Amino acid sequence: MKTITVALANTPYKIYVGEQLICAKNRLLQPLAMGKDVFVLSNKTVYQAHGKKLHAFLSAHGLRAYVHLVGDSETSKSLRSAISVLQAIVRFDRQKDVSLVAFGGGVIGDLAGFCASIYKRGIPLIHIPTTLLAQVDASIGGKTAVDLPQGKNLIGSFYQPKAVLSDATFLKTLPTPQLACGLAEVVKYGIIKDVTLFSFIEQNYHALLLADSAALSHVIEQASRIKAKIVTQDERETRSIRTILNFGHTIGHALEAAGNYRRYNHGQAVALGMLCAADISAQLGLMPAATVRRIETLLANLTLPVQIKHISLNTILSYQFRDKKFSGKTNRWVLISGRIGRVCVKQNIPLAIIRAAVAKRMASV
Ligand code: NAD
Ligand code: GLY
Repeated sequence: MKTITVALANTPYKIYVGEQLICAKNRLLQPLAMGKDVFVLSNKTVYQAHGKKLHAFLSAHGLRAYVHLVGDSETSKSLRSAISVLQAIVRFDRQKDVSLVAFGGGVIGDLAGFCASIYKRGIPLIHIPTTLLAQVDASIGGKTAVDLPQGKNLIGSFYQPKAVLSDATFLKTLPTPQLACGLAEVVKYGIIKDVTLFSFIEQNYHALLLADSAALSHVIEQASRIKAKIVTQDERETRSIRTILNFGHTIGHALEAAGNYRRYNHGQAVALGMLCAADISAQLGLMPAATVRRIETLLANLTLPVQIKHISLNTILSYQFRDKKFSGKTNRWVLISGRIGRVCVKQNIPLAIIRAAVAKRMASV
């Protein structure tokens, strides 16, 4: 088991990463100041697959658990389901000292985080993420959110958990496209901060896609270390340090929205967005064109898309203008600076260059 500290001045916490972490012999919650009652938020898919392990783990700590299941999709990240979760907590919380355990992917993590942050102005929150994306990204750093019909993540808060417990063995039951989605984010960490992590994925993509727990533990640990460090330096994204986590997300978010959140999942959209950002970096002479091909080969090996289909160039560009990184006439891009492992933030990239980068990714179908 590896331990990573998110060394925030006021709300430090530990991320535990390993195989078979969630079992009766591991008393990882013991050092935390929490009461005897835990409200577990999960969904049917996750709970049916791994609920027994969670119960054995919580019982070994002497904790009493109440389980609340929400629907299995992004639609659960709504104000309506937040209210129903909060009402269920109220029913469970009669004179108890309740903590919230988020047991699932990023949807559960974001919803649980939001509810934990506002119930009684904040109750202890533990993340036990069960998708790779949630282990390397959503559960770390304290961003919580629910969606509005007008857009994703429009209502939210910053609220740090007491601990994050990332068990790679949970990923054995994760469908391969979901695993690939998380691996896209791991590739992102390699590109922005760590060429050794990038090379590890190049050499081990097959094992990673087969959910090999040792290979996955390694990338979860490395990615978590990178995110923990960035969040520690810029918790509220006010110093342009956390911004680099958005590498590939400018076009990625536009593609997700243009495809009505159905055509591309988050990781697929980010994969295509990273290729566009890499292409822009090459067009601006910030790095060699061969690096775009290296990234493309890795993403294709991870079964991620490298060509955009069924959405027009103009639609993508119009969604890109709506992105929150685009204010007025100014755009802001995270680009590769010289080599994999180093990025910079640049503003005012000419539209012709963005257009050319996206056009290159359009499939001729
Ligand atoms: P998800 O939570 O919808 O999970 C994907 C699917 O995998 C679901 O059907 C889920 O039931 C299933 N699943 C989860 N664990 C499983 C397991 N071990 N075995 C089998 N199936 C399992 O999606 P996600 O990709 O984990 O998260 C996406 C969400 O995360 C989005 O809402 C996004 O906005 C949010 N997010 C938040 C942050 C943040 O910083 N807060 C960062 C990135 C993404
Ligand atoms: N997922 C981006 C961030 O946490 O800042």
